[in-house]
Amino acid sequence: MEKISHDIIIVGAGIAGLRAAIAAADFSSKIGIAVVSKVYPVRSHSVCAQGGTAAVLRDGDSYDLHSWDTVKGSDFLADQNVVEFFVKQCPEEIIALEHWGCPWSRTEDGKINQRRFGGHSFPRACFAADMTGFHEMHILDAKARTYGNITFYDEWFVTSIQTVDNLAVGLTAFQMKTGKMCAMRSKAIVMATGGHERIYEFTTFSHTATGDGMTMAYRAGAPLKDMEFVQFHPTGLVPPGVLITEGARGEGGHLVNSKGERFMEKYAPEKMELAPRDIIARAEMTEISEDRGLKGQYGPYIALDLRHLGEDKINERLPLIRDVAIKLGGVDPVEEPIPIRPAAHYSMGGISANIHSETSIAGLFAAGECSCMSLHGANRLGTNSTAECLVFGAVSGREAAKYALANSFPELSKERALTEEKRIFDGILASNGDERVASLRNEMRQIMNGKAWIFRDGHHLQTALKEIRALRKKFENIAVEDKDKQYNTGLIGALQLDFTLDLAEITVASALARTESRGAHYRFDYPKRDDKEWLKHTLAYYSKDGPRLEYTPVTITRWPPTERTY
Ligand code: FUM
Repeated sequence: MEKISHDIIIVGAGIAGLRAAIAAADFSSKIGIAVVSKVYPVRSHSVCAQGGTAAVLRDGDSYDLHSWDTVKGSDFLADQNVVEFFVKQCPEEIIALEHWGCPWSRTEDGKINQRRFGGHSFPRACFAADMTGFHEMHILDAKARTYGNITFYDEWFVTSIQTVDNLAVGLTAFQMKTGKMCAMRSKAIVMATGGHERIYEFTTFSHTATGDGMTMAYRAGAPLKDMEFVQFHPTGLVPPGVLITEGARGEGGHLVNSKGERFMEKYAPEKMELAPRDIIARAEMTEISEDRGLKGQYGPYIALDLRHLGEDKINERLPLIRDVAIKLGGVDPVEEPIPIRPAAHYSMGGISANIHSETSIAGLFAAGECSCMSLHGANRLGTNSTAECLVFGAVSGREAAKYALANSFPELSKERALTEEKRIFDGILASNGDERVASLRNEMRQIMNGKAWIFRDGHHLQTALKEIRALRKKFENIAVEDKDKQYNTGLIGALQLDFTLDLAEITVASALARTESRGAHYRFDYPKRDDKEWLKHTLAYYSKDGPRLEYTPVTITRWPPTERTY
């Protein structure tokens, strides 16, 4: 088996991964950095980010205000030291992107424009029309390619993190073009592999967002934190689930029920359509369940009305949304409201990491959506995600560089890598079972949609846990019909399913244990927030019998929990 060595290996080439590579390369030209991704970098899910990136840039706004909005938005589960650090770093990242050539939308006097977003009490979302992630990604990709010490491994599929005595020593990965397995040795690893929303059926996420890095870290011994907190974005396009940016409401769009009412008046009279996402998603589901949804061939929906904005503003600020609504929703928002419903959009949970991006495994760092620094607590505010990827991508790159310079290469044993190769190719690829990947995947997604969605209760979560575990059993009998090693998308699908089954189980087990309602986690049987019992983070550790749950306190610096109204 081929053995490759790099001082730092970054897994994932979205905003966090590319930003980490740039920061590490800026830190030292002497370290060799690899960026390994199962897709070409500019096809990473980060390109789908639309509405903006949060930063305090103007008089009238302040770090305190951005911190407070984030803490209140998190339903007081965010670690406030992390929030305070984060908000101070955001402007620096916006300016860096500006210098590297990001085509921000501008005010008439040439300044970076900022729009309103849910839960933020100041217009602080810097945007590039409604393709912010797309432009940020292209700028980061172009910048990263100017460094001589960054090597890209595009379309390489990572299968495991290898550790010895809680020290990360490298990875196993295969090149998708050839199916050739490689042992990749490194001093430091940065996981930047994104979220796991494809455990759900109706989601804004790319088909590639299968949480691989989260599962690999979990299996290597790092805990996953706060996995019960999944964000449901209020405006997933019906029928495909594709994101319709919150920027559409930031620009003045209305949410309307079948009676023509702007129903948010009842749920968040002050913020209306710009309340935080957890509150709007629940409001929409309540309208639908009380029969005030509109009726369509793909089930009940809510209308997002942009018509009053006018064609010129829609074309200038929301051109992608117009295009997507016409092509995938069959409506032109200039003339008709857009049919939407809440869609799984973001994981507040992830690989537990501290403010320096360090995980509990020495030499293993995590950044972006696959990580959980407890920045977002129980509910993330829109535009704090791309900002997080930039801020903590940079932190993780610098910290990994420091670590790599201070440590020598560990040993990655050939035997261990060969064992992993056997698991993949002699186990999963060679398997001649009769369970189909697509069927198990669909079953998993239906269970998650039906029993671990926006409104939850103990009975349904318990059933979901049993059903997900039954799917895990069935996976032992998986069939991969195509036995070829080259570009075997059937094998990739099976490996991704394997990762997501763990994540579905952890999400449900963590949700079942949390007997309160907080942020995006709402339990009919425990409808109140319970700070006495539950002002704490969940940590899920791997065990062969399923996740073992522990808890850790929330860091409160300046804002004790209060009632959360909008
Ligand atoms: O609606 C949006 O544009 C999404 C932004 C975000 O998730 O931060």
